[in-house]
Amino acid sequence: MTVLVTGAAKRIGRAIALRLHRQGMRVLIHYSTSEAEARRTAEECGNAPVYRANLESVTEIRAMFHEIGRLDGLVNNAARFTKFDVMSIEEADWDYIHSVNLKAVFFCCQSAARMMQPTGRIVNISSLGGIRPWADHAHYCASKAGVIMLTKALAKALAPNITVNSVAPGVIPFSDKEAADPRVASMIRRTPMGRAGHADEIAEAVLFFLTAPDFITGQVMAVDGGLNLA
Ligand SMILES: NC(=O)c1ccc[n+]([C@@H]2O[C@H](COP(=O)([O-])OP(=O)(O)OC[C@H]3O[C@@H](n4cnc5c(N)ncnc54)[C@H](OP(=O)(O)O)[C@@H]3O)[C@@H](O)[C@H]2O)c1
Repeated sequence: MTVLVTGAAKRIGRAIALRLHRQGMRVLIHYSTSEAEARRTAEECGNAPVYRANLESVTEIRAMFHEIGRLDGLVNNAARFTKFDVMSIEEADWDYIHSVNLKAVFFCCQSAARMMQPTGRIVNISSLGGIRPWADHAHYCASKAGVIMLTKALAKALAPNITVNSVAPGVIPFSDKEAADPRVASMIRRTPMGRAGHADEIAEAVLFFLTAPDFITGQVMAVDGGLNLA
């Protein structure tokens, strides 16, 4: 199974790529600016092919998929995250998030679906922020709620050949500094499982959807230690 992981150079995307490689899948590594990290991840994934594209551009998205040529799976992981008071956000701030978090996810799904013959698997990484509202991240929450609805609409549109599911991570910090941010620390305190999550736990959920029966489609799995219930 050949699977493209977007934003696979670092952090959650890297963990997903490494996990899929360990599972015996042929992984394709996408990056935008983190070339050195992408090449390192690719090396650890058995010298996986590496593709660069700025996902803000539909032209670059289509060129990347044209170069790839054939695909069984797609993991839309690349995204942006910013914080803005709702009253100060400008059009460019809105577009900065939505161009990558939502528009690119749609056009990556469309390009991948055209290449998935006879069947395919798509996993979109959304967020707890697409399920629960965060006041200082309204634009981001809207983009991720969009990813969740896109997942459901595409699951219908692309059935019966392709499944489309979503993994919604909770708090996944990558350093003590990130975990110590007051907002993050408060979320960790409120998490029923009493801790932050690990990138490997997101990767397990992605692997599940990539290998699940095709009767499972249009679903959202929160991997958040129960925080969406709190
Ligand atoms: N970490 C968390 O706590 C958390 C919580 C909820 C949801 N999530 C979601 O989980 C996913 C991964 O999270 P993360 O924290 O690992 O993400 P991240 O490090 O913030 O971003 C992942 C990658 O997205 C790529 N990217 C950003 N803008 C791009 C563009 N214009 N074109 C192409 N690629 C672009 C970057 O690639 P380059 O570095 O190569 O430029 C980056 O390495 C995201 O969808 C995120 O929203 C994360």
